[in-house]
Amino acid sequence: MYQERIRRPELLSRVMSADEAAALIKNKMVVGSSGFTKAGDSKAVLQALGQRAKTQELQISLITGASLGHNTDGNLANAHLLSRRMPFQADPILRDSINKGEVLFIDQHLGETAELLNNKHLPEVDIAVLEATLINEDGSLVLTTSVGNSAVFAALAKQIIVEINTIIPVELAGIHDIFYAGNYPHRQILPVLEPHTRIGTTALPLDPDKIVAIVITHERDSPAQIVAPDEKTSAIAGHLLEFFNYEVKKGRLTTSLLPLQAGIGKVANAVLNGFTNGDFHDLTMYSEVLQDSTFDLMDAGKMTFASASSITISSECYDRVVNNIGQYKDRLVLRPQNISNAAEIIRRLGIIAINTAIEFDIYGNVNSTHINGTNMMNGIGGSGDFARNAYLSIFVCQSASKGNSISHVLPMVSHTDHTEHDVDILVTDNGLADLRGLAPRERAKVIIDNCAHPEYRDEFRSYFKAACARGGHTPHILEEAFTWHNRFRQHKDMRIKQEAI
Ligand code: COA
Repeated sequence: MYQERIRRPELLSRVMSADEAAALIKNKMVVGSSGFTKAGDSKAVLQALGQRAKTQELQISLITGASLGHNTDGNLANAHLLSRRMPFQADPILRDSINKGEVLFIDQHLGETAELLNNKHLPEVDIAVLEATLINEDGSLVLTTSVGNSAVFAALAKQIIVEINTIIPVELAGIHDIFYAGNYPHRQILPVLEPHTRIGTTALPLDPDKIVAIVITHERDSPAQIVAPDEKTSAIAGHLLEFFNYEVKKGRLTTSLLPLQAGIGKVANAVLNGFTNGDFHDLTMYSEVLQDSTFDLMDAGKMTFASASSITISSECYDRVVNNIGQYKDRLVLRPQNISNAAEIIRRLGIIAINTAIEFDIYGNVNSTHINGTNMMNGIGGSGDFARNAYLSIFVCQSASKGNSISHVLPMVSHTDHTEHDVDILVTDNGLADLRGLAPRERAKVIIDNCAHPEYRDEFRSYFKAACARGGHTPHILEEAFTWHNRFRQHKDMRIKQEAI
């Protein structure tokens, strides 16, 4: 019955139910699982494990590519299954457990997890759960809508459970590019010279003896929630497009720009959508996630090629792309996340990296992860991999939100993910700050004038003036730097001053 999907006959006897496969995962094991921003995740085994944890003492450390779909992270957190979780999540229930200190979350650069595992800086992976389209005769796997960390899990895990997802068309075979760079001190270069360069194999090599269970599923990835561009995201996109036009006029970029990386979230999608109507053409992406906008740009004849580690799209886009993969296959490649996010390639290709900030400060430091300096949101994801090495490192966010009770531009960030040294351009709905070649005191002026919301601007100007009077290369008044965060903590409004209460 499954011979088209399990092409190595001896493995057919290893087909079992999700419950039986989940029973192979024991208390305190380190589990590696496929799944990258909801794409190509385990649909059955992790869920079954969550059910088991409700009645048995069972805790695991779970390492994935990035976030999982199907509320899996939330269900596992509810079942108290997770003792440790890395390298990324985006689930409100798990987030809550992390912020209560119940789950130990290790927030990692997404390009680094595979390196840390390979170099034995992390505990050994006991068992991996990998979603695949099919198993080839030689035991190699054709993966599904993401590659993530599956290659390193396949190489290092002692045992492997494969979930064959029959909803994925077998025609997907061919879009992946799997490559091992080897170990230190004889590591190879990653010879990706252009976004479309292929350097590896289309299937993931695997020792078939490690496969202890095969579970058949038939379920789509959870859809991405696409938020239509609104006034603010359109304003941000407008400022950025104007900037790119300026760069073209100055001769620093052509109308094909350089390969784009766009982070998750509504702003990145709006920015990419903005390219549909402009003069830009023959665009390419070298990113970690491909969202709807990538395929919209391909359909509009604006984008010629996209490389990433996952495809995370809406239901409508899924019907259009995954079920018609033949139409897109020669314009796509999915790579392991330590290759999609490799510093070496990002620097070589000259990526234009566009990521979203939670807040940034008047000197250009960016917080991507923590609300009010303490509570984890999602994690740094790949933003750091790209920001540090990009040709242009751009961060975007709203100038203020929630009725302007939150200013996203502040004197000092409450947590630093990207330092001023790695940030070139900051954009809010209010305007764009080009920080290239500016000293801290120059940066502060441009950021306050161009990016801060008008309701906060005067206060920041006064802060900066007083800080400059005190002196310093990066002038601050430390006892006042977190005033706005403190007001938000106390009154849920950064505008409410202490004395007014
Ligand atoms: N204080 C309090 N709350 C804040 C806040 C602040 N300074 N900044 C944001 N929030 C809240 C928002 O109000 C919103 O709350 P809500 O869900 O109750 O409305 C929530 O945090 C998310 O903010 P929003 O502006 O809607 O976020 P987004 O969808 O644009 O995502 C990030 C922004 C930063 C959370 C997201 O891009 C991210 O996780 N980035 C890190 C990972 C990354 O960059 N990866 C890149 C490669 S994919």
